[in-house]
Amino acid sequence: MNEYVKIKGMGYATAQRRVNNTDFTWLDTSDEWITSRTGINSRYVTETENTSDLALRAAVSAIEDAGIDKRDIDTIIVATFTPDMLTPSVASILQAKLGLNDCPIMAFDLNSACTGFVMAFQTVSAFIQTGRTKTALIVGAETLSKVMDWHDRGTCVLFGDGAGAFICTNQGTQHVASHFANSRGDLEDVLSAEGLKLQDISDAQPLTSGTLKMQGQAVFRFAVDAISDGIRQVIEKSGLTLDQIDYIIPHQANLRIIAHVASKMKIPQEKFITNLERFGNTSAASIPIAMAEAKANGILKEGQRIIMVGFGAGLTWAGSTVEL
Ligand code: UT7
Repeated sequence: MNEYVKIKGMGYATAQRRVNNTDFTWLDTSDEWITSRTGINSRYVTETENTSDLALRAAVSAIEDAGIDKRDIDTIIVATFTPDMLTPSVASILQAKLGLNDCPIMAFDLNSACTGFVMAFQTVSAFIQTGRTKTALIVGAETLSKVMDWHDRGTCVLFGDGAGAFICTNQGTQHVASHFANSRGDLEDVLSAEGLKLQDISDAQPLTSGTLKMQGQAVFRFAVDAISDGIRQVIEKSGLTLDQIDYIIPHQANLRIIAHVASKMKIPQEKFITNLERFGNTSAASIPIAMAEAKANGILKEGQRIIMVGFGAGLTWAGSTVEL
């Protein structure tokens, strides 16, 4: 079913410290290996800011871009699997940091790993459709550096910290969205993280638990199928053709994954917006960061039709089409 939702504003925040491929001096790796296998040149890692701090900066920027009164926000959803603490939610902490304690707000976090932001968009779109929500702040925010084993070269070079945010409203009826989501809970071992710990990456010690564990090649194969499936499903549900889509914003994990999808589905690679070269994989934050950056750079414009498509731990995958 198609739903009406307007993305009125977008914003993003990068973490404080830029880490280039050549900075991994303690690892048996190289700039050449990381660049050729992933397309990633650098990523940003937090020094003092936690997930809610990055979420706050992205949210403030999205509110500014939307030109709304922040007191109109009635719903806050934060997609994350690296919250500040187990409870309260980052969404509630964010409400307080935005100075909205006296506003009636439904605030909660949503964890669907790297697919989380697309799930948050779908959730808010449904709330808007029913009239439950009028103005929502949705954020994808992660401090993945807390769950990295900084001695596992197969994972730690891939990820970064950051946040991206949208203001979604019920304004107008022309902004149609169609959605698809799926999950394979039996594949939990392929990509999982047990717990949350802050680490100083300059003095990182080997960790034995609580870190992100990944079977890279299995995730790679899954990702190519998941992105292709997500695109196909939302196209079918929307009644559009791929030619009518201006841009696809995939989860920013690996350029080779995106290239495989493009070649398999015969979609020109220019149709895929990417910024993982500079940000790495920021999990739930990757799609809104890529979109907010593309909007700020004048690439995404009012009236365009786009597809957001994500995949991640669960394993989960989801896609949405939306008219900007
Ligand atoms: O949000 C979802 C998150 N995850 C993903 O999207 C990950 C999807 N998977 C991938 O992106 C790729 O599988 C990786 C980038 C993780 C790995 O690339 P690959 O081409 O699949 O490499 P591989 O796992 O087959 O490893 C090839 C070799 C191995 O050495 P041996 O066994 O051939 O001697 C690895 O130990 O590369 C080695 N290797 C590295 N070498 C230098 C693994 N990581 C590194 C590294 N630097 N950072």
